[in-house]
Amino acid sequence: MTAAAKRLHVITWGCQMNVYDSARMQDVLAPLGYAPSASAEGADMVILNTCHIRDKAAEKVFSELGRLRTLKQAKEAAGGRMVLAVAGCVAQAEGAEILARAPFVDVVLGPQTYHRLPELVARASRAAGAVIDTDFPAEDKFDHLPAPAAPHGPTAFLTVQEGCDKFCAFCVVPYTRGAEQSRPAAAVLAEARHLVAQGVREITLLGQNVNAWHGAPGGLGALIRQLAAVPGLDRIRYTTSHPRDMDDGLIAAHRDVPQLMPFLHLPVQSGSDRVLAAMNRRHTADDYLRLVERLRAARPDLALSSDFIVGHPGEQAADFRATLALVREVGFAQAYSFKYSPRPGTPAAAAPGQVTEAEKDARLQELQALLRAQQGAFNADCVGRSIEVLVTVPGRHPGQIAGRSPWLQPVHAAGPATLIGRIARVKITAANPNSLSATLVQPEHLQA
Ligand code: 5AD
Ligand code: SF4
Repeated sequence: MTAAAKRLHVITWGCQMNVYDSARMQDVLAPLGYAPSASAEGADMVILNTCHIRDKAAEKVFSELGRLRTLKQAKEAAGGRMVLAVAGCVAQAEGAEILARAPFVDVVLGPQTYHRLPELVARASRAAGAVIDTDFPAEDKFDHLPAPAAPHGPTAFLTVQEGCDKFCAFCVVPYTRGAEQSRPAAAVLAEARHLVAQGVREITLLGQNVNAWHGAPGGLGALIRQLAAVPGLDRIRYTTSHPRDMDDGLIAAHRDVPQLMPFLHLPVQSGSDRVLAAMNRRHTADDYLRLVERLRAARPDLALSSDFIVGHPGEQAADFRATLALVREVGFAQAYSFKYSPRPGTPAAAAPGQVTEAEKDARLQELQALLRAQQGAFNADCVGRSIEVLVTVPGRHPGQIAGRSPWLQPVHAAGPATLIGRIARVKITAANPNSLSATLVQPEHLQA
């Protein structure tokens, strides 16, 4: 037998939490000799990390599994073996169904059990049948995952919180990701220091409901203050937040902590109080507007982003107009908007007043046109300004570099690759649909 590395291909769908989890699954499997591979073809193990939040999640999984089955059979025909694992929220919600409909799958595991992956893989290799692990174990998965491998580039995600207790009527997350769980501050700080030591300059704290973090007194605001004291950590962000959990301490952190970037993804979902109540959001449109006022008072240059759902059960034309009115009042720098999609088992799926597809389509188009215009205006407003960009990658064209503005806009400029991993001052010269063009303002120490 040779000691050649086994090839692991991970396919990631869905949220940043899944991106983070995929990286950790690679870390967990590295000691078993699995090295990342860019392609599923011929791989020794393929993990499909799935998302259940919208659309025909299960159908998408089964169609991808069909493709992977062909590759698995090809590998077996050549005398090899491919372990096929399905992870993530579809695995959590529909584990038994997956094994029934796709018996060639070897491992099904929910988001809370990734630390058990090596054991599951070993069991799957031994057993003839597949193994399934979608329990919510008593032990904390964070305690069992190894320290992350070297990060890729100067930005990194760091999961600080998982799960959600909010039970919005439309959402599967409380069922697939379980109850709110916070990672202790000490563990978060240790991982942050580790990342910074590897060259990371910007950390985005992740959680399904990140501002409900309660791993230490003072909540997320206090954690951010502690992170800001880590030397070399220049930028801090967090996502995704619920309006109900934006406490005074967190708002004050936006005022006091310069490393906390002036961009906040704060989903409102709807601007209609009737629909917000039907959604079980437990806040009104006015609560959201007042919150935005307080945030902007704390940090005047704060840019806001949101999620919206159109066509939630019970949404009538007047409710949709209330959403448009809220959007006009706030002015978003960017946003995501979705047509309501019934998730089996959630209260909204069985609620009266389901909206027709045609109506959802029309509302989505109207909302997206308004949001696009606001994003365009926000970007256009940046032209002529001098701002700081964290340079993260080479640009698309030779001699170019690219990175992110404080407001998370992609920015590109002509410049040397030596600036990657550094914060550069640039002047914005043009706003494009999805990015900003800039010229480098020579840093002082580079000037002749
Ligand atoms: N239908 C449409 N959009 C949804 N989201 C969550 N569940 C659904 C659903 N059933 C959206 C919400 C949430 C984002 C991550 O996905 O806007 O904030
Ligand atoms: Fe889902 Fe609502 Fe929890 Fe967000 S806050 S994850 S939308 S239940």
